[in-house]
Amino acid sequence: MTVRRNILVTSALPYASGPLHLGHLVEYTQTDVWVRFQRMQGHNCTYVCASDAHGTPTMLQAEKLGVPPEKLVANVATDHRTDFKNFGISVDNYQTTHSSENKKLTAQIYLQLKKNGHIKRRTIKQAYDDKKGLFLPDRYVRGECPTCGAKDQYGDACEHCSATYTPMDLKNPVSVISGTTPSVRESEHLFFQLADFQEELRAWVPDHVDASMVNKLNEWLESGLKDWDISRDAPYFGFEIPDENEKYFYVWFDATIGYMASFLNLCNKSDKEADFNKFWKKNKDTELYHFIGKDIIYFHALFWPSVLSGSGYRKPSSIFVHGFLTVDGQKMSKSRGTFIMASTYYKHLDPDYLRYYLAAKLSSNIDDIDLNFDDFIARVNSDLVGKLVNIGSRCSGFIHSLGNGKLSKTLPNEQLFNHFITTGKSIAADYEARDYSKAIRQVMGLADLANQFIDEKKPWVMAKDGSQAEQVVSVCTLGINLFRILIIYLKPITPALAERAEIFLKIDPANWSDANQPLLEHSINKFKSLLERADPEKIQAMIEETRSNTPENEPTKKTQTDEIDIDQFSQVDLRVAEILEAKVVDGADKLLELKLSLGKDQRTVFSGIRSAYKPEDLKGRLVLMVANLKPRKMRFGTSEGMVLAGGSGGKEIYLLSPDSGAEPGMKVR
Ligand code: MSP
Ligand code: ZN
Repeated sequence: MTVRRNILVTSALPYASGPLHLGHLVEYTQTDVWVRFQRMQGHNCTYVCASDAHGTPTMLQAEKLGVPPEKLVANVATDHRTDFKNFGISVDNYQTTHSSENKKLTAQIYLQLKKNGHIKRRTIKQAYDDKKGLFLPDRYVRGECPTCGAKDQYGDACEHCSATYTPMDLKNPVSVISGTTPSVRESEHLFFQLADFQEELRAWVPDHVDASMVNKLNEWLESGLKDWDISRDAPYFGFEIPDENEKYFYVWFDATIGYMASFLNLCNKSDKEADFNKFWKKNKDTELYHFIGKDIIYFHALFWPSVLSGSGYRKPSSIFVHGFLTVDGQKMSKSRGTFIMASTYYKHLDPDYLRYYLAAKLSSNIDDIDLNFDDFIARVNSDLVGKLVNIGSRCSGFIHSLGNGKLSKTLPNEQLFNHFITTGKSIAADYEARDYSKAIRQVMGLADLANQFIDEKKPWVMAKDGSQAEQVVSVCTLGINLFRILIIYLKPITPALAERAEIFLKIDPANWSDANQPLLEHSINKFKSLLERADPEKIQAMIEETRSNTPENEPTKKTQTDEIDIDQFSQVDLRVAEILEAKVVDGADKLLELKLSLGKDQRTVFSGIRSAYKPEDLKGRLVLMVANLKPRKMRFGTSEGMVLAGGSGGKEIYLLSPDSGAEPGMKVR
């Protein structure tokens, strides 16, 4: 009898200032597969997450949208929850860090740290935006690198020479918010003294963080730990610090505590108040794991255990770290259409494809994970559809035509069945070690064996000979049993496919150990397609939609500080154009196809204005267009220019038109 483990798992809390993208899904898939695996083993495994509500970006984003930050956070959290659900991420609780539980715990932990002498105060100098009346976070100041002189660098580090510094060191600094030169102001801040935990961390890190991160952490530990500034001045969207005058907790201080808060919220909701202390005060019979990306290791492996320890809580059992998602070998990019939102993917493709593909690339190291769409199609179609689902489809017909839909009494080749069961132990070990890519290689190796067995027996040839009906059903019974085992082994990765397969097999939701017992003398349903082949056209449509969605609220380098001169501007051929015809584009719900007249010349332009305009209202209207934009090939045709419009998108799109008297083709300057 194996011991039933008590496990609490978290994923890093996505910022409430924006939607989830495929990069986030690397982490949520990695976590969810592990959680589902543990539950299938019969362990008690709880998974909590939340949206990370606080900080300057959320505050500014809310201001821009003209809504209170609380409202923005609630709305984004609703979208995050929908994405989690759509991608089968089986969290037990999902709230936001702007919760009463978090407020209470954050204050309590802070006061305890203060009482234990870990909090000091010190006056510091900071960049201040006089126009906006706001202290500026490092990333909101840009200027020239003090070391190498590179232009347009962030206030914390140079992307060119990797120098690190403070915003005050930048030459010609500019506030990203108002475009003005920041002044320098003094203010008293509260610091958590990380150095108090130096020795404790040195002993703790090697056994509790993935080996691949230990060297990096040791470097930090060797070079000495700096105090951590945990306070921010008003205006700031966050929790006020008790017993201070208008000071707020820095978002990262209450964010990690958000893990505890989400769990506390769950305990309170489900009448399991006692569980809170079982998981957070003691660490004897309970395990605590945090899944994170490698960019936030400092917070999780140094700050967080120190905060917990300094306030009388247990430290995590382990921190599991993953690498970053790249698309076609490059960082996700808006202009290439590879900065794909979870919701956009979901409109076009099956979530289990992505879960399978990511799992096939995930292991316990921190290498980046590359999404290549040709490879994606090939793997999904050859592994999942071609090898796995095919076993079910080629065997079930004979069970129905020759066996009345019922599996036989015995298996013709127990050895093969037993080999599947033995390999299951090794596959389970791979899941436990987060080596999903190895688990998948083993499952697909078994799928090859199953297909080989069927190919050798050739039930379709045997079936021609009426006297062999029983043998055919027996061969196919083994085929169906092997299929079932493989579905169980992949269930943590492809839960929706597994659910459809369970219906086909007429079985209850399977746990891991159910694989050990063969299904015999059991009726199954007629086979219905369990998984469609992945279609390259749908990927193209997803990429195009992503491109046409480029949000205008992303502060990009160009628009913030770079200037262009008059010569550069005059390279843009701006013209008055008349809309001769406008129509909707099948398969692209954001686009209208416009036929434009430039006097002598005609152009076709695909424009993302469908959400704000009816095609019939546009005919005859004069607009402004960029006439010398490089033509862009789209799935629906080639777009030969761009019409100009303002607004934030959705219903808020406003086409620009000239005054009366302007003629199609007229140059604009
Ligand atoms: N809010 C903080 C985490 C607070 S945890 C107490 C944060 N949010 S985030 O939205 O930027 O990222 C959430 C998680 O997603 C992080 O673990 C991050 O590493 C991961 N990823 C974000 N972009 C990613 C990729 N492109 N690829 C893989 N993981 C990525 O950090
Ligand atoms: Zn530099």
